[in-house]
Amino acid sequence: METYLISENASLEIASSILKKGGLVASPTETVYGLCANAFNEQAVRNIYKAKGRPSDNPLIVHIANLDMLNELVLEVSPIAKQLIEQFWPGPMTLIFKARSVIPKVVTGGLDTVAIRFPSHPTILKLILESGLPLAAPSANLSGKPSPTTFERVFEDLNGKIDCIIQGKPSKYGVESTVIDTTRQVATILRPGGITYEMLASVVPVQLDKTLGHALKKGEVPLAPGMKYTHYSPNAKVIIVRGSHEAVIRKMNDLAHLDHSKGKKVGLLATDETFSSLKADIVLNIGSEQLPHTIAAHLFEALRQCDDAKVDIIYSPAFKQAGIGQAIMNRLEKSAGYHFIDAS
Ligand code: TXA
Ligand code: MG
Repeated sequence: METYLISENASLEIASSILKKGGLVASPTETVYGLCANAFNEQAVRNIYKAKGRPSDNPLIVHIANLDMLNELVLEVSPIAKQLIEQFWPGPMTLIFKARSVIPKVVTGGLDTVAIRFPSHPTILKLILESGLPLAAPSANLSGKPSPTTFERVFEDLNGKIDCIIQGKPSKYGVESTVIDTTRQVATILRPGGITYEMLASVVPVQLDKTLGHALKKGEVPLAPGMKYTHYSPNAKVIIVRGSHEAVIRKMNDLAHLDHSKGKKVGLLATDETFSSLKADIVLNIGSEQLPHTIAAHLFEALRQCDDAKVDIIYSPAFKQAGIGQAIMNRLEKSAGYHFIDAS
């Protein structure tokens, strides 16, 4: 299949007509790039799973561009959901609702609930409005790889497998949306993301899915089916080093030196605060610890750059869990398979 490349400044007429005919279009969003299909077209949605190599029990998020679309798709909008919508939509927040039967089961992975997001990125909003369709869209990466935050990474993973890629700018947030179940008595975070726990808690009482923050124990099942998979994994092994600032720098340098002497290629994730003190085959500065959103924006791209450089092992410092740090650590822990080393 030939994949059309379209500039985001060009008309989106071709892209919307591809969607109306049941094709697949990758679009920038404010979180990560998404792979879109008409949410009402079962075959188109099946093709998303096929292009990504995604397990069929991992449901998709349906993207909308106004609240009328929401009412067509869901049975009930609870008072909690209404408050969250008022504060945080459009934006990087996905809400789970009881689904109406118009939504094909292939979208929801057979569940009776559906995930809905009203994004703020003008390009995907335009696609939804021009096609007149709610768009089912997971992240536009091959299943298991770090989510794409640039058009080039979408191209690398999906060229030849989808109909069209819209070339936008790098994603603003760099981590996926916060997923919140609004069908429970208390709003429950199933996946931390761009809208933080602290932001949510300032509006409604909120709790975290109990399975977050540690490797899944035997028999434990996360409320978001996608959270049971080892996501966000580069080919290299990832290890998180935790401890005081100085101890982490020392330990990362020691580990890099030792592995290098054994013939391994080592990548280190650094920050403005550590970059000049770290030494390895490659050292990538991903942002400032004072401005954690800069780290969120560059994390997935850095993991992919380590793969480009064919490193065998990546060491990353642990980041503060506050604010967007919760999403950063969630993705990093998953890519590391919860593998930590304590520096002292
Ligand atoms: O920022 C984002 O959310 C991006 C952009 C493209 O919008 N999309 C994204 O989609 O990250 P995806 O498919 O990579 O992740 C969707 C997550 C998965 O963990 C999935 O299991 C969960 O949402 N999910 C979807 N429907 C659900 C449902 N009905 N109940 C619980 N979890 C659900
Ligand atoms: Mg994904």
